[in-house]
Amino acid sequence: MKKILVTGGLGYIGSHTVVELQLAGFEVVIIDNLSNSSKDVLQGIERITGIMPVFEELDLRDKQATITFFQKYDDISGIIHFAASKAVGESVTNPLLYYENNLSTLITVLQQIQHKKDISFIFSSSCTVYGQAEMMPISENAPIQQAFSPYGNTKQIGEEILKDTAKIAKGLQVISLRYFNPIGAHPSTEIGELPDGVPQNLVPFITQTAIGLRNELSVFGNDYPTEDGTCIRDYIHVVDLAKAHVTALKRLVDNAYKTSFEVFNIGTGKGSSVLEVIESFERVSKQQLNYKIVGKREGDVISAYADTTKANTILGWKATSTLDEAMLSAWKWEQKIR
Ligand code: NAD
Ligand code: WQD
Repeated sequence: MKKILVTGGLGYIGSHTVVELQLAGFEVVIIDNLSNSSKDVLQGIERITGIMPVFEELDLRDKQATITFFQKYDDISGIIHFAASKAVGESVTNPLLYYENNLSTLITVLQQIQHKKDISFIFSSSCTVYGQAEMMPISENAPIQQAFSPYGNTKQIGEEILKDTAKIAKGLQVISLRYFNPIGAHPSTEIGELPDGVPQNLVPFITQTAIGLRNELSVFGNDYPTEDGTCIRDYIHVVDLAKAHVTALKRLVDNAYKTSFEVFNIGTGKGSSVLEVIESFERVSKQQLNYKIVGKREGDVISAYADTTKANTILGWKATSTLDEAMLSAWKWEQKIR
């Protein structure tokens, strides 16, 4: 059974990916410093799969602890690297936290594996690297634009670090997955998103408003050049996203296929406006959402949704859940945890 390290594996996307890795027959070791997650997530994972993952509480900024980890676990076949800070707004007010946490940890992990004969590495990237792309849907060939935030910059720099390292580290194979907008929760309602404080993202703010935690949702602008005036995004069910990681990992660990550095856009290929997301929520929850239109949010792009041709044809992965299914899973999770 191949052993896979999942850094940030108790986080939102990481925990859903650990479940899919276990179901696919991989042995999982999680590293997490619990800076944005809870150890209770381990029990949630076990309740779904019946398998308690190995967990090492460790801050990847602690270089010596990371070195010791890799001396202990010298039989790792692959790494899925989720560990990072991800709040765009916070990255603007505290850039050094983001450059340190998102880049020094990546460099430290790569330093431990660069001489290995055969190691696969899946990187959590983001559609934010495209900025406001000229063409919709966005393909992997779309130009990388000046990052809108230090957070987005750490994803761009992270990909450059991986590309350059994979060129000289002959045993290292890298796939960078550029996620669009992950939403929803595992259908079991055993794991889901646990936003810290006031949610910055649309869907958790919707469900927290509906459950009564927030008074009303502010819709950031309805005079964009789109059909209903609100921004368009590609909202992908987090379980579909998790499965994309397993497919990408299998491409590297199972086959004789050899690569150095590949990129895939991971989305549904469908754009939905903010008002369409609200309508979806009201449809599946059978309740009205309290919201108001306010001014635009700084840094928002008008539209971003994926051209998933490459992921569908070369990676062999395709999202299967609808927006309604994802929104219903988010709502069921919110009701479970409140
Ligand atoms: P998350 O915050 O839920 O998960 C990140 C996990 O990493 C947390 O459990 C946190 O405790 C851990 N962590 C952070 N710094 C660490 C460190 N120094 N050492 C050890 N553990 C550390 O975030 P998420 O939404 O699951 O995102 C996972 C990855 O996907 C991140 O790299 C993020 O940038 C990327 N991503 C997320 C989204 C999104 O919308 N959620 C979109 C695109 C890309
Ligand atoms: C979606 C839409 C908002 C909240 C961010 C990061 C990106 C990635 C995913 C990490 C936008 C509107 C939102 C609200 C609203 N994260 N909105 N009221 O901004 O597309 O992407 O999360 O990698 O890097 O930038 O997602 O959910 O914040 O916003 O009207 O209270 O919902 O204007 O149009 P976004 P989001």
